[in-house]
Amino acid sequence: MHNFDLFQIEKSLEQEIKSINSLKELESLRVKYLGRKGIINQLTSKLALLPLEERRLQGQRINLLKEKLISIFSSKEDQLKLSSEIKLVPVEVGLPGIIQSLGKIHPLNKVIEEICDVFLRMGFSIAEGPEIETEYNNFTGLNIDLEHPSRDVFDTFYIEDQNLKFKNQNLLLRSHTSPVQIRVMKERKPPLAVIVPGKVYRPDAIDASHSFMFHQIEGFLVDKDVKFSDLKGTLYLFAKEIFGKDIKMRFRPHFFPFTEPSAEVDISCIICKGKGCYVCKRKGWLEILGAGMIHPQVFRNVGYNPIHLSGFAFGMGIERIAMLKYGIDDIRLFFENDLRFLEQF
Ligand code: DAH
Repeated sequence: MHNFDLFQIEKSLEQEIKSINSLKELESLRVKYLGRKGIINQLTSKLALLPLEERRLQGQRINLLKEKLISIFSSKEDQLKLSSEIKLVPVEVGLPGIIQSLGKIHPLNKVIEEICDVFLRMGFSIAEGPEIETEYNNFTGLNIDLEHPSRDVFDTFYIEDQNLKFKNQNLLLRSHTSPVQIRVMKERKPPLAVIVPGKVYRPDAIDASHSFMFHQIEGFLVDKDVKFSDLKGTLYLFAKEIFGKDIKMRFRPHFFPFTEPSAEVDISCIICKGKGCYVCKRKGWLEILGAGMIHPQVFRNVGYNPIHLSGFAFGMGIERIAMLKYGIDDIRLFFENDLRFLEQF
């Protein structure tokens, strides 16, 4: 028996153990090398034939080899146990991968971003306010008197729990973004040019053009000597950016308690270019927002002096603008999370 043979035994175990993948296979390999009739025991049984001196020497070498083999087996056993815990998922590299579809910006948020971008370029900044508002900010501060129909419970969601009040004020879900005018003006000094995107709530029955929750963008500017023509110029530029250069615009006299004078603003129908069609109900015009010069009482309510200051304000519904811009005929599509709809934008 040569050193070489013992070395070969170690080498062949190292080779064989590489292809072992389970504890069961490992056990039969162990029997082959270390079992009762295994390779090591066969060697040991041959020792008896050797002269005493050599028997001792070979005996020691076989024992050394045996220890080595035991340690090879035990580290392989550890390795198998560990990888069975990790449970590697087999990867079939020949198959195409699973394509993760990319998310997209919701069409309403896209329109909000686009509109904000137009006003940011004109020097406006963005402000936000809470969706739960005080009755004061939503109505009283905006010069909306106690008899105004919009205060009715049929037109505004009030928070009925009388324990939920803010500084003795009733709370409600804001019915428009205009209360942020009050918040910003109370906190900051003019000159101001601010736009306010956000969600608003009204107890309307849901149909193709109504939803209990929708989005508005409010805008207002306060400075010395702000004129109605500044309002017209600002809104005209906005409409051209959003609906195209050829758009026409008109201001119809209207009433809002928080502006004086007030107007509803129309653009020429983007479908029929003013000729008259089913979208504009044959009028050739589409109403897109309300606007006006900020009422002196609103200035007084926030501690501004209306003698020295003037300003304009406007407010628009985002869903309506998005529906006109993309030719969408049902507001519910925005809120149903149907990917067949959403993926088109
Ligand atoms: N807050 C009004 C509404 O929800 C929209 C509006 C009209 C806002 C005129 C304004 C404005 O700032 O000046 O119907």
